Amino acid sequence: MKINFLDLKESNPPPSANNGGNDILTEYLIGRMFDIHMESSRTLWDRKMFDEELKREGSGFLICYADSGFADSDNSRISLKKFTEKDIEPALKIGLQSLIVGFFIYYNVLDEMHILDITVSKEMQSKGIGSLMLNMVIKKNSEAGIKHFFLEVRTSNIAAINLYKKFGFKIFMLRKNYYDDNGEDALCMVKES
Ligand SMILES: CC(C)(COP(=O)(O)OP(=O)(O)OC[C@H]1O[C@@H](n2cnc3c(N)ncnc32)[C@H](O)[C@@H]1OP(=O)(O)O)[C@@H](O)C(=O)NCCC(=O)NCCS
Repeated sequence: MKINFLDLKESNPPPSANNGGNDILTEYLIGRMFDIHMESSRTLWDRKMFDEELKREGSGFLICYADSGFADSDNSRISLKKFTEKDIEPALKIGLQSLIVGFFIYYNVLDEMHILDITVSKEMQSKGIGSLMLNMVIKKNSEAGIKHFFLEVRTSNIAAINLYKKFGFKIFMLRKNYYDDNGEDALCMVKES
């Protein structure tokens, strides 16, 4: 199985454009991102927030998807696999048959990036996909002049904290009672490029 990435804001024509973009595909992509978000994330956005964020100037949407061959694959075999750079297939065209396995949403202002959400579908976690997405976004945006990468994460979210630490993020502040649902604290983390 190959995995692929699509920058939703930079694809040409932009699937999100009202004037001739592929609205059906965008609708499918956002819908699938929302499903993954509901299944895997504890900080819940509603569906409208995805649409609004997509329209916002300065936002970025990276989508990770598997080719349609995934549907016929033997899941037990896939579960043994850890993805690396060599598994990336840049040429594949995304279509309604593609399986979305993760996404990364961020927002850039001046020389700062604010990471808003990075989520991998449950069955595809711990296979290197989060790392590939983070690596791709940080590299591209560093080259484009982003110097500071910020994020907030629940103090209980060990997998995410480990991922960010692996990429050189450092804790710089604790926000007490940051999350509405359970009053959990947030770690504020930053990486300087
Ligand atoms: C956090 C998340 C995006 C990580 O993506 P992933 O594809 O599973 O991560 P990777 O396989 O690339 O792993 C990267 C590192 O993260 C850490 N990690 C991943 N899964 C972990 C787990 N279950 N327990 C502890 N650390 C874990 C490890 O340090 C790992 O590095 P290693 O493989 O060298 O040990 C994913 O777990 C997820 O979608 N979680 C739910 C949504 C979420 O909480 N997002 C973050 C919001 S701030």
